Amino acid sequence: MTGIDELLGSVLREITPTEEERKKILQVFEKIRDALEKHLHRVGVRAEVTLQGSIVHETWLRGDRDLDVFVLYPEEWSVSDVKERGFQLIKEAVENIGRVEVRYAEHPYVRVVVDDVEADIVPAFKLKSPVNIRTAVDRTPFHTQFVIEHLKNGLNNDVRLLKKFMKTVGVYGAEVKTKGFSGYAAELLVIKYGGFLNTLKAASEWRPPVYVNTLGDEALFRDVVRRLVEKYPESIIYMPDPVDPSRNVTAAVSLEKLSKFILSAKCFLEKPGLRYFEDVGEGEPADIAETIDERCVILVEVEASTRLPPEVIWGELDRIRDRCVKFLVNHDFNVYYSTVWTDESKRGVVVLELDECEKPAYKLYEGPPFTDLNRVTDFTRKHAGKSVKIWLSREGKLMSISRRSARNSLDLLATRYNEYLVSPHFKNSKPVVYRVTRGNIEALASKYGFNVLKDLTRKIEPWLLECTS
Ligand code: UTP
Ligand code: MN
Repeated sequence: MTGIDELLGSVLREITPTEEERKKILQVFEKIRDALEKHLHRVGVRAEVTLQGSIVHETWLRGDRDLDVFVLYPEEWSVSDVKERGFQLIKEAVENIGRVEVRYAEHPYVRVVVDDVEADIVPAFKLKSPVNIRTAVDRTPFHTQFVIEHLKNGLNNDVRLLKKFMKTVGVYGAEVKTKGFSGYAAELLVIKYGGFLNTLKAASEWRPPVYVNTLGDEALFRDVVRRLVEKYPESIIYMPDPVDPSRNVTAAVSLEKLSKFILSAKCFLEKPGLRYFEDVGEGEPADIAETIDERCVILVEVEASTRLPPEVIWGELDRIRDRCVKFLVNHDFNVYYSTVWTDESKRGVVVLELDECEKPAYKLYEGPPFTDLNRVTDFTRKHAGKSVKIWLSREGKLMSISRRSARNSLDLLATRYNEYLVSPHFKNSKPVVYRVTRGNIEALASKYGFNVLKDLTRKIEPWLLECTS
């Protein structure tokens, strides 16, 4: 056990924010708070400027420069007051202290960058009880209260370890991009299981679907879960929000990310090591240049009609990727692997690896049995034009060797894009489709700074390699 304590101790020294950082981030907060309070005072609005999220929970990681500021408006305001006037006031207040960007989650908020620190400033209600929640962001102040009350005796450091672990294996973040665990989910896990190691121990035994009792009372939990399953039929892990049990904190976690977390937890407990806390290096293009010409790796580059927020573009690209895969499968291709990348603004790339880029010119079709003349007729008429041979098999089934109408995956993708560019902001665009080869891989690597090729260049994740060898 001491080995593991030492390991976690040294990781913690690396990931705990420095005093200097803390000072800087709080200074930025004060600057933002002053600007907001001044402006609110000037226009005669009584609202409270608060700091929320991992900075207050003391669960943020060194190097993260992100502030969650919530401006809490009076409960008497209407939802549209908060979303419109409340938002507008924030924008006016901070326009002079940094670069301002408007962002959209469930409702609009302002991102301002001051001295390299990114602050999200969110308009919300100041509520007495979470029962009165009116917008998704109203829960946050109650989360902060709950976390501060329950994350005692250094457990906040366990959250830091868990977040870093989750980041390294790629399951941290509830956004569409990752479909993993939010910071609050990591906090609830540590509170529930009483620490980092205990969380991994519990997770290593999970079998999806997973139900995590964050409420305590067994009967209440059973009742709540029944309703959550109805409300979130697609979820694979259920964790009621203790502050508002009608919400599933882990609603966004995909089966892929849940299984990754479970497997990495098993692996870590089996063979603990630094691997689980170190940023993984990216492969060199030389590593795959050797095999790339023997494989069929295709990039489909697309561009949206306008700039889009990250959640929207990731969501649309996910859909396009699904459609690409189905489209190719319908043409007999075996899609070994697929992934997407985006600059989170306008550009996106679907990466596809197929069994082969081109199918043979002729395909064997199995038709109806001899017993059904109507179907035999249909089949024969349908194949007449493209068939080179129609016959009865030894089992008595009609067979045909027919010419494929399309055999090249790149041509198919380049010409029939209306069959897969189906999402609102891409359906009127034209994709650029090409194959990754030894000849263009270096150029691609510099074009995308490896973002796109990373998944292809990396053969196996270091932690999985170490765990299984
Ligand atoms: P953040 O995403 O910034 O999380 O949301 P965090 O806890 O501060 O973690 P890091 O360190 O930045 O990654 C801030 C608050 O917004 C609410 C939570 O209350 C969280 O504390 N939130 C955010 C959610 O409830 N769910 C989400 O998916 C995202
Ligand atoms: Mn945060």
